[in-house]
Formats: sequence, C-alpha cells, structure tokens
Amino acid sequence: MLELRTDSVNFYRSEYCDDLNRRIVELCRSGDRVRLRDYIRRQDDAHPELYADERIENRPGMQLVKELVDALPGPVSVIDVACGSAELLKALQRSGHRVTGVDASPVRVARHRREITDLHEGFAEELPLAPATADVAIALECLEHVMDLDRALREMARVLRPGGALLVTVPLGSAADGPNHVRHFTVESLRQAVEHRGFHVLLACTIPYLHGEPDNNVFLAAVKLVDERTPLVLSHALNYKLLKLITPDLMTVSGIELTNLCNLRCRQCPTPFTRAATGYADDRTVAQALDYAAPGQLFSYHRLGEPLLHPQLLRYVQWAADRGVHPLISTNGVLLTEEIFLKLLDAGLRNLQITLHTTASTKAYGLVARHLLAHPEVQDRLTFVGNVLSHYDKVPEWLDACGITAEERRWLRYVQTHNWAGNVPGRRVAFPDDVVERRVRNCYFITGNRASIRWDGTVVACCFDSENENVIGRLEDFATLRHRPADYRLCRYCDANWANGDTA
Ligand SMILES: C[S@@+](CC[C@H](N)C(=O)[O-])C[C@H]1O[C@@H](n2cnc3c(N)ncnc32)[C@H](O)[C@@H]1O
Ligand code: SF4
Ligand code: SF4
Repeated sequence: MLELRTDSVNFYRSEYCDDLNRRIVELCRSGDRVRLRDYIRRQDDAHPELYADERIENRPGMQLVKELVDALPGPVSVIDVACGSAELLKALQRSGHRVTGVDASPVRVARHRREITDLHEGFAEELPLAPATADVAIALECLEHVMDLDRALREMARVLRPGGALLVTVPLGSAADGPNHVRHFTVESLRQAVEHRGFHVLLACTIPYLHGEPDNNVFLAAVKLVDERTPLVLSHALNYKLLKLITPDLMTVSGIELTNLCNLRCRQCPTPFTRAATGYADDRTVAQALDYAAPGQLFSYHRLGEPLLHPQLLRYVQWAADRGVHPLISTNGVLLTEEIFLKLLDAGLRNLQITLHTTASTKAYGLVARHLLAHPEVQDRLTFVGNVLSHYDKVPEWLDACGITAEERRWLRYVQTHNWAGNVPGRRVAFPDDVVERRVRNCYFITGNRASIRWDGTVVACCFDSENENVIGRLEDFATLRHRPADYRLCRYCDANWANGDTA
C-alpha cells in the first residue's frame, strides 16, 4: 500500500466532473493500487483503439518533447512514464534512442511490447528501474492521473542520472477535463511540485493539447541538478534548444575575451594600443556567455589579449567542457608550461592554437608537439595548431634554435597576416562599397548569426572589434539582440581574412 508522506506536495481536485470522477479520486486518495489497476484495466479493455489524441502528429506537446530529446547529444536513454499507446517511444526508438516504457495498463503494455521490448506494466509511483539509469524521464498526460503526485516525481528523480532531464505535460486546470483526472494543475502548481522534488525548472508554459486548440495544456522542462559536480551536458543542450525554439533568431555566442590585456606588444595587433577600457572577465559574465554557446561547437576564450593571463582560465575551460561546449584558446604561449598544458587538457580543452610570436612561443609549441607525438590518443580530443604569421621571418630560425624536429613541425600552419578589420593603427583602409557589401554578405559572424563578447559583457559583432565600433548591446539583454550590419562602422574597413572567406 502506498503511504502519503507529510512533506508531500500531493493534492487532489476538490470539485468533480461526475460521480465516476469522484469515485476515482477516492480510490486514488485511498492508495488502493489493486482496485485502481482493476479500474484502469477495465477502462483500457473497453477502448482498445488508438485515439487521435495519442498520435504524435496531432499533439504539439509530444512533438516538442520528441524535438527536444533529439536535440540532446545522444543517443540517450529515455523512460516514458504512463506511455499509453507508446507512440512517442516508437518515434524516439526510430531516432536511435534507448527507450523504456511504463504504464499501469496491462492491456496497453501487452499490445505494444512487440515493438518496444523494454515495456513494463507498472505504476509511476513505483518505477521498475534501477536508480540513476535514465537520461530523460517523460510524463505526458500522466501526473493528472497518478495516485500520489509527489511519490511519482520522487520516482522520476530516482531513476534519472544526475544532470538528467524531466519533460512533462498535463492538462491546464479543467480546460481539457476528464473523469480520470484526479487533480488540476496550473503552471505554478506544476512548477512548485517539480521544484519541491529538487528539480531545476528550465521552462514552464502553456501550450495547446491538440493542434488548433487554445492553450489548454501545461508543458514543463526541468533538470536534476544534484551538486556542483552534476554533469551539465544534457541540461545545457536542453536549455539551448528551448532558447532557440522560443526565439528562433537568437544569436549564438562564439566566444568571450577573458582579457584584452597582453604580455606582448605585437605591431600587427590592436591590443597594445586599444583605446577601449581594459580588464578581466568575471565569473558572471563568462557563465552568462556560456548560456548562449552552441553545444558540441567550438567556443573561443580568446579575442584580443592573452587568455593565459586570466587567473580563472582553467575553471572556465572546465565550465565549457562540463556543458558539452568545446573550449578553444589561442595564446602566444609565453606562459604555457608543461604543467599548465596538462591541466588545460585535463579541464577539457578541445582546440589549442599557439601563435609563434617569440622563441618562448616556439618552445611552448615544441612542448605541445612532443606531448602529442608521445601520446597519440590525445590527438583525438585536442586539435592543435601552431600559427606562423606571414611577416614573422624569424620563425625558421626560432624553430631550429628550439630544436623543433621535422616531425614536430606537422602542426604548423602558415597564416596571412591581417589587420584586425582595420583596427591596427596605421593599417586602416576604407574599401569601396561593393567590397564592403561582399565582405558583410560572407561574414562568418553575420551569416552564422554569431556574436562575440568582450571581457566587460559588451556584445560586439565580431572578434576583430577592439575599439567597440560594432557594438550590438549588453550580454544581459542578449536574447533581444540582433545583428544590425547597416550600423557597423568597422565593416567599412574589414580586410580580407578567414572571417569573410575573402582572399582578394
Ligand atoms: C492520457 S494517457 C497518456 C498516454 C501517453 N503518455 C500520451 O500522452 O498519449 C494516461 C495513461 O496513464 C496511465 N496511468 C494512469 N495512472 C497511472 C499510474 N499511476 N502510473 C502509470 N500509468 C498510469 C494509463 O494507463 C494511460 O495509459
Ligand atoms: S598578437 Fe596576440 S600576443 Fe601579440 S599583442 Fe596581440 S594579443 Fe598579444
Ligand atoms: S568587420 Fe566584423 S562584422 Fe564586419 S564584415 Fe568584418 S568580420 Fe564581419
């Protein structure tokens, strides 16, 4: 017998739609599983057909859940609680996910077990799964039926791995009522019940139950965050997908400059001469920038300045890696020791670029190259590049002096020097309109809807903007910001470079 707990958020409706409804609520209140199972079995035997409202094409909520699960780095393991006709499970299985279903109706379970092998007869309040075995728990049109709401949520929290996702729909109040609904939800009461069980709610909102209907359903997405070591890969991917669905033209943050200060003064770079304020990014700014970083894509911790000067670099690399975002740094290598390199690797660095500005840079290149040759397996998770800029005629000399062998030179890349879109003092050229138009049209940042963040949270159009000429706004307002190329003064001077695919 299921007991009700005193710290529970269980509740039942106080008004019934008919006598049958009153009897079912009383049955649930009593926690009498045996009689409830009998009731559900009888009901499903009487209605063996697949209802139109169980079909995925008719249900915005089911489609949304399918789209969200497919957006997670996967395949993932999914449990659908009260899976009914297993329509969603079949679709998720076709996408390659590992699926498990549970439903209280033995008739439904028997009917779909041929297609879904891991299908169990059982109650949401007692899931037949080991703890921490699922990445995603789904409960669509389920919680309005269960005997004990709090216990069902506790069970979903139990079977989810730390960092796992919970996706729920329920009818909104009595908007789509039925005699089997033992409780009515508002957006807030669903949110509270879920939060009470320790979930972090990413989104709770109203949606239509069937296409063409008014908003008579509640959708909720939450994640199970346990402690600061909880893996955030699923939660970041889920949050990012939700943000993109809510705001389809939302920009992506391609990277953040950790500082615009540098320990070198290169003549081809605007960093030593910038008139913009100088400083270091703080935790809040980096965390906010990461919220808008695309999962599974490179995220640059370098714009202007030297990232190894930032005392929190290792932590920030780890933050990105924990979220499933691939951290990149480009450094002059002067401060890169073997110990720091190994710590960066350990923190999850995915792309390292060392520009050979000095002999110290060349030595740093050499230590990384030697490590990669001695540990070829590291090459699978770290892309390494040694940049040789076209005007550095001393590089061959440095390579020889630093004893870099022919084999160790395989990661060198020879790069045409550019002028940071005209931000290098004395190298600003105003291009004719047709060239500017071509460069803007092909711009990596504008066409890819990417933005770059300065250390102080200023959002700028691209990573060349040392003087804040293409400012779009502030990071706090990121969701509302859009590219406005017509206002970008810097584009008039943008030189041919990798950012616009222009080699002219
Ligand atoms: C409205 S259907 C939802 C089916 C499916 N999730 C969907 O959205 O189409 C409700 C399902 O909940 C099941 N059910 C009712 N009470 C349950 C409980 N306590 N535990 C598990 N399943 C339950 C019923 O058998 C039924 O299949
Ligand atoms: S090119 Fe790099 S190393 Fe040189 S001053 Fe600029 S940021 Fe510093
Ligand atoms: S200045 Fe920046 S935004 Fe403008 S075209 Fe060049 S890279 Fe793109």
